Amino acid sequence: MILVTGGAGFIGSNFVLDWLAAEGSPVVNLDKLTYAGNLRNLESIEGDTRHVFVRGDIGDGDLVGRLLKEHRPRAIVHFAAESHVDRSIHGPAEFIDTNVVGTLGLLEAVRAHWSGLPSAERAALRFLHVSTDEVYGSLGATDPAFSETTPYAPNSPYAASKAASDHLVRAYHHTYGLPTVTTNCSNNYGPFQFPEKLIPLMIVNALARKPLPIYGDGRNVRDWLYVGDHCDAIRVALARGRPGETYNIGGSAERANVDIVSSICTILDELHPRGAPHSELITYVTDRPGHDRRYAIDAAKIGRDLGWAPRERLETGLRTTVAWYLGHMDWVRSVTSGEYRKWVDTNYGSRSVA
Ligand code: NAD
Ligand code: DAU
Repeated sequence: MILVTGGAGFIGSNFVLDWLAAEGSPVVNLDKLTYAGNLRNLESIEGDTRHVFVRGDIGDGDLVGRLLKEHRPRAIVHFAAESHVDRSIHGPAEFIDTNVVGTLGLLEAVRAHWSGLPSAERAALRFLHVSTDEVYGSLGATDPAFSETTPYAPNSPYAASKAASDHLVRAYHHTYGLPTVTTNCSNNYGPFQFPEKLIPLMIVNALARKPLPIYGDGRNVRDWLYVGDHCDAIRVALARGRPGETYNIGGSAERANVDIVSSICTILDELHPRGAPHSELITYVTDRPGHDRRYAIDAAKIGRDLGWAPRERLETGLRTTVAWYLGHMDWVRSVTSGEYRKWVDTNYGSRSVA
């Protein structure tokens, strides 16, 4: 049994599905179901008794304490977060509430539970904290990629909140001995990603023949990793990662934003022709404030120490992703229309979470 937080979001839901397929042991999935949480992502495991969904907040110490006591998970895999940089620029407070205060609450509940365990279980427990490369700040065109020893220099409220949570996790290991492992990953893409992030937004807008908004000059660079490879890396870090260590995860696939968007347009021209090239929809818009220029990941440590490497190439992963969205227009419609929120209203009404 493992406890996953944020397992109804993009990476979390991919992780839960992959975990049940690859490992098979049960998962308790604690998710608040914010706008980013969508139980339709988990439709394919509906009725699977190995998946126990609990709607609740990671900061609710009583709830987390009860779940830990009842299920005695061997690991906590912590995905839950506010994750979108643009939203953090418009309203940072929620990012501090969930990513910092929420993570602190979760750590406290886990520490209280862990302290009371018999010694073998104490040693075996893992708290795996899922974090981001954005904590390292921005690189110049020729700078070496981020390694685990790159100093933290977060630039957006989102990155600052994730950096703070990383520091708390580090402190819980050093101060209390909690067996934590932190992973810092680059930009993910793949099925079930909410269409506010670059790749799904461009796919969904192109299908609706809406403009494809590119910030600034479109030459900002991100390193892209297929979500399935990230899930794989997390399973590896959980199984073999050393407590107290951090591991960078990346796809060795740096691309300028405009090149990513152009590739999506080319794939759509082929898989979903519309008479005119989709690239005609590309529109340059005002830049994101404080927009980081370049991210790149040096993933040598996780390769050397844990034997992980990405399997998917960006070109094929992007094609699979575009095809997934084309094949799941129902999901797209329910997300873009807001219909997917009805499940939450029907099942939870206006009640506050668990
Ligand atoms: P997401 O926004 O798609 O999903 C976040 C999930 O967390 C949602 O299901 C939401 O309902 C839940 N949640 C939010 N606040 C909560 C709370 N207080 N209590 C319980 N649940 C709550 O995010 P994602 O893109 O899947 O990212 C998952 C994690 O991976 C985050 O920690 C993020 O920082 C990290 N990460 C993301 C990427 C990426 O490219 N998306 C890359 C590296 C790291
Ligand atoms: O690097 C890991 C991070 O990647 C994760 O920690 C974050 O949770 C995740 O959201 C992502 O952050 P980014 O800011 O890099 O992702 P986003 O998809 O928002 O933007 C990717 C790039 O595309 C970035 O340079 C901004 C640009 N962009 C984005 C959007 C939404 C555009 O040009 N136009 C857009 O409409």
